[in-house]
Amino acid sequence: MIRGRCCRDMAVHSLVVALLMLLSVVQLRADNAPKEEEEDLGFFMPMAPEQKPEKLQRLVTIAKDIREKAQKQPEAVALAISAAACTLPPVPLERALRVIKDIPSAAQEHLPAAVDLLASIRELGTAAECLQHPNTPHGSPGPLSYIIAANLYECEAIMPFWILEVLRLALLLRNDPLLQQAYFHNVTTQTNFKSTASISIYESGSQDATVTWLRVAEALWTAAAIPNTVVINGVLTRQTLMDPFSGAFYKQHRIEYLASLRNAAMEPVYTSAPGTYDYVIFINDVFFCAPDMLRLAAFEGDIACGLDFEVWIGNKKGRVSGVTQRFLRRLMQSKTSSVETIVADDSVITWQTAVEHMSKVHVEEAARQAAADARVQAAKIKPRYEFYDTWVSRDIGGSPYGKTDPIARDYRTIDLLHRGLPIPAKCCWNGMVILNATHLARGLKFRSSLTVEGEYDISECSLFCEDYRRLGATNVVVDPSVRVSYLVWTKEFHGKLPGGVGAKVPWSLIQRSGALDELQSLWRDTKSCMKMTWVPLKKYAEEADLEKYRAVDLASVNYTDIFLEHLKHPSSTPSKPATCNLIMGPYGASYEGMAFDDLSLSAFGKNPITTITYSNTTELQSLQVEYGSKPGLSHGTPNATSTVTLSSDETIDHVIVYFSEKAVSGMLLTTSNGRNVSMGVIEPEHGSYAWATPCPGDADRAGKYRLISFAGTADKVVRSVTLVWTPKE
Ligand SMILES: *[C@@H]1O[C@H](CO)[C@@H](O)[C@H](O)[C@H]1NC(C)=O
Ligand SMILES: *[C@@H]1O[C@H](CO)[C@@H](O)[C@H](O)[C@H]1NC(C)=O
Ligand SMILES: *[C@@H]1O[C@H](CO)[C@@H](O)[C@H](O)[C@H]1NC(C)=O
Ligand SMILES: *[C@@H]1O[C@H](CO)[C@@H](O)[C@H](O)[C@H]1NC(C)=O
Ligand SMILES: *[C@@H]1O[C@H](CO)[C@@H](O)[C@H](O)[C@H]1NC(C)=O
Ligand SMILES: *[C@@H]1O[C@H](CO)[C@@H](O)[C@H](O)[C@H]1NC(C)=O
Repeated sequence: MIRGRCCRDMAVHSLVVALLMLLSVVQLRADNAPKEEEEDLGFFMPMAPEQKPEKLQRLVTIAKDIREKAQKQPEAVALAISAAACTLPPVPLERALRVIKDIPSAAQEHLPAAVDLLASIRELGTAAECLQHPNTPHGSPGPLSYIIAANLYECEAIMPFWILEVLRLALLLRNDPLLQQAYFHNVTTQTNFKSTASISIYESGSQDATVTWLRVAEALWTAAAIPNTVVINGVLTRQTLMDPFSGAFYKQHRIEYLASLRNAAMEPVYTSAPGTYDYVIFINDVFFCAPDMLRLAAFEGDIACGLDFEVWIGNKKGRVSGVTQRFLRRLMQSKTSSVETIVADDSVITWQTAVEHMSKVHVEEAARQAAADARVQAAKIKPRYEFYDTWVSRDIGGSPYGKTDPIARDYRTIDLLHRGLPIPAKCCWNGMVILNATHLARGLKFRSSLTVEGEYDISECSLFCEDYRRLGATNVVVDPSVRVSYLVWTKEFHGKLPGGVGAKVPWSLIQRSGALDELQSLWRDTKSCMKMTWVPLKKYAEEADLEKYRAVDLASVNYTDIFLEHLKHPSSTPSKPATCNLIMGPYGASYEGMAFDDLSLSAFGKNPITTITYSNTTELQSLQVEYGSKPGLSHGTPNATSTVTLSSDETIDHVIVYFSEKAVSGMLLTTSNGRNVSMGVIEPEHGSYAWATPCPGDADRAGKYRLISFAGTADKVVRSVTLVWTPKE
């Protein structure tokens, strides 16, 4: 009967959807008409100071100091960090100081260092303005255990804010009494249950300061007694595979790669006993506010999300949205902003300097925000927020969300959406999501589509929703008052937004509005509805092609079952790719210098590397390689060069590349004869290194590949290198 209702509605509904889609197409075209544009896309954003290497270095040092102290006095230091977290914006500093004034003296001893650390982190980034929400849920709704998971990649601009917001979230989830008191004013009742929160981060391949930020984060979270697993420089990279016969390159399936990253972050969940975690919280590299997640947790749904937004200025936004947003993020870091660090000498952090430091952070943040708001006021064209994730989101009828009013098209939820009330849905992710982890005990993981078995190609998050639905986890909710963004926002973000999204509604009002009962009833009515709409991605753009949709019945073929069966019999699915990534790199500053590529000289490995000539000065100033008897061009500036000659059957089997954000510092080559050749500066003081051999970390495959050629970029020095490998015969 229930099913009947859902599916009868579908027939009429499809027509409405088709019409709405047509309308949105027309509207999109209209939007593309040329408009007057602001010169500078970043004009509305609060500017953040530059993340100078020496400042980052100091941060790593003081974060590690505090972690060391925590080893000796774990409780006192953790308490000091909770107290310090109270002093961050948006909590007024006076109120925070009132709340924390009576903490035990053992903790007070660590308070200056903790406050100074948090101020030092926060001042190096742009902060999104989180409004105070005295009426949101204050913590976990019950004695539950949470794990916050994330995949991070090249997002240094967002890290200062993100790290601290994750700290605040973890503390609030475990009902930290100090933070609750500071954030929500007069909290009178204290919970009589214990909940826990831990963190799992997986990062791989970042070449910016994300890696350094994660070292700071790891030390900070550990000192705060939040269990965490932070994998930095993980070995998963999106593989470029080479067909050894044709020499043609192809990229690993994007979704397969993204699913593997998510699974890597979920490793602690998969490897713990079922029931260890009640909820998994996935947070992208977005600006978000911690109390919003408490709101999502309060639904106690199977999947709960907010909405994610992109910023447009007029019609300016690149074709590939991710790239533009990243470009804009780079703008957030103004080179001119001069923020001096108050404490010059680490040894003199006193309570007074620490509070002054934090106070300066509050003042500057407010000033930056006010200046940005003023620029927006004065601007002819205002920033416009547009709902982003149309590819994954599905309304309660299974139709994709659109970009225009109403973004969630099912008529049963349009009114709720316009009023800013929570709406049931079939799928959402939207930059930040909380998942009931119970269902994972069935063995479910993130995956890519089983295209061989006939499943349509969709994202790993969409598949996750579909798998959850087939397993009976159908309580999905989107709260339009919870908003995240890839850039910081201005005041307008809290009000009505394009797409028919009502202004934010306080939680207390939601409770009184009857929306929660409505939600339960819609969940019940649609529980067995298995209709979904499939939408492909546009060619060459990571954007849903809403014109090419198709109806799918999730009940017709149980791909979830097929997937779970595959997992049980790993022999039937090759879980490891049969080939490794044969192109390693680029390492170094790949955007600088002229590109070179010796692959054709090497004739795809037919002409083996015979000699390498290089400058062994302060960095890798030059590199020249001879393939067979064909000398390649010299890249960089030859200066005091050395030459290595390989014997006739000697191959290069292993390479470590040392590099910085500016150039390649050196390389350590190991040959099949066990010879080590060190070029340039090995193990430099600053900078990263990478195991540039295929399948790093896979002992079975070590030594089974040989280096066939170099590519990279160079000007007066070698800026970046990429290494091309082939399996040994
Ligand atoms: C704080 O407590 C006072 C008195 O108990 C009450 O009148 C006031 O509304 C409370 N404020 C908030 C924000 O809850
Ligand atoms: C998660 O879902 C299961 C199955 O529907 C349910 O029994 C459980 O209460 C949910 N967990 C939480 C923490 O709400
Ligand atoms: C799909 O298969 C799973 C696992 O075998 C099963 O639990 C679930 O009920 C099935 N769902 C549907 C809709 O057939
Ligand atoms: C290159 O320089 C390093 C130190 O600067 C030195 O240890 C190494 O032996 C040099 N290599 C050659 C081949 O000269
Ligand atoms: C050659 O290397 C030396 C030592 O690092 C350096 O002082 C000199 O400036 C370099 N010469 C050129 C032309 O780059
Ligand atoms: C070559 O370098 C590696 C890594 O630093 C080291 O483990 C190995 O012992 C070295 N081999 C020789 C022959 O020096």
